Amino acid sequence: MNKLSLSDVQLRDKKVLIRVDFNVPLDKESKVSDDTRIRASLPTIKYCLEQGAVKVILVSHLGRPDGQVVEKYRLTPVAAKLAALLGEPVKKLDDCIGDKVKADIIQAKEKVILLENLRFYKEEESNDKGFAQKLASLGDIFINDAFGTAHRAHASTEGVTHFLKSAAGFLLVKEIEYLGQVVENPKKPLILILGGAKVSDKILLIESMLKKADEIIIGGGMCYTFLKALDKNIGNSKLEKDRVETAKGILEKAKKANVRIHLPVDNVVVDKIEGFTKIETVGEDIPDGLIGVDIGLKTIESFCQTLKRAKTIVWNGPLGIFEIDTFSKGSYKVAEFVAKLSAVKIIGGGDTAAMVAKFKLEDKMTHISTGGGASLEYLEGKALPGIAALTNKE
Ligand code: 3PG
Repeated sequence: MNKLSLSDVQLRDKKVLIRVDFNVPLDKESKVSDDTRIRASLPTIKYCLEQGAVKVILVSHLGRPDGQVVEKYRLTPVAAKLAALLGEPVKKLDDCIGDKVKADIIQAKEKVILLENLRFYKEEESNDKGFAQKLASLGDIFINDAFGTAHRAHASTEGVTHFLKSAAGFLLVKEIEYLGQVVENPKKPLILILGGAKVSDKILLIESMLKKADEIIIGGGMCYTFLKALDKNIGNSKLEKDRVETAKGILEKAKKANVRIHLPVDNVVVDKIEGFTKIETVGEDIPDGLIGVDIGLKTIESFCQTLKRAKTIVWNGPLGIFEIDTFSKGSYKVAEFVAKLSAVKIIGGGDTAAMVAKFKLEDKMTHISTGGGASLEYLEGKALPGIAALTNKE
């Protein structure tokens, strides 16, 4: 990467402004229910403190409050979690710009300060220059460690870089290293596992991966649109009618590019998803009235045999409705198998990361991205604005 990173810059006596992605799930009691993204930011924060930064000023968004102050989107519970994980007191301020914030930062006895949700200002998402300048005025140097938000050109990811020297934090560097390897120079054979609800979300990824992958495994809600494209009966399973032609086109392109596509040969089906009274495994054709919810045992076996050939595995999207235990077997069995392989195993963020966490297989994967949309766009080969805007190395 030709961008400055944290280890290239002087931090001693500096006020370091760091964009983190603390957009984390909160439970009903407003407690952080998954602290993965907070833990992922710790190396950068600790390094800044060790290098003698006078203040570490953290900025993030939480949820989509759309430019309004929304109480449930305050970052207060995140500050408590961060303090516990860091083992350092964290000062939480109730705003993110302005003279009072500036004064509070200087007067704080704590070195680590978390500012209030950036998206309480509509100027954050509109990448307003004045807002970016106000943010920038809080620090002496800017570090972007928010990989999960690097696909957004917002004031705190892109705008701010016009006013301060800007470098990538350790998490950003790590994500680029692992995902970049897949995009630029993957160990072959590369096998892509694709799942999740919609074909439409993954078209660009498939298009770009047809140039890189050797084989593509497709499961999850999106596989039924592909099965339909092959004239199979899919009963009442999830179908994107307007994407059947797209799926046909992808299958043809894959043939021409010599990329083998693997679809389920058997399916777990139910009469209704919630409160089902009938569950069975059928072949490629799903009888009328029934809904596909998971891949069957034969498919699990054949996907695992295929995956044995891989030197790199990229996984984006669950293979069934994994949130419901009864329908999680396909995703679980394949994940368990992948976990044991010696291939490079890259797991996309969002649902796929949540799935691996549910199965407690995180430690067995090479890299689990902290970015959902961001990892998807990166793997599609797009330049992410939050990375592109950082200061180039001399
Ligand atoms: C994410 O969770 O994907 C990031 O934090 C970005 O959030 P957004 O989709 O609301 O911009």
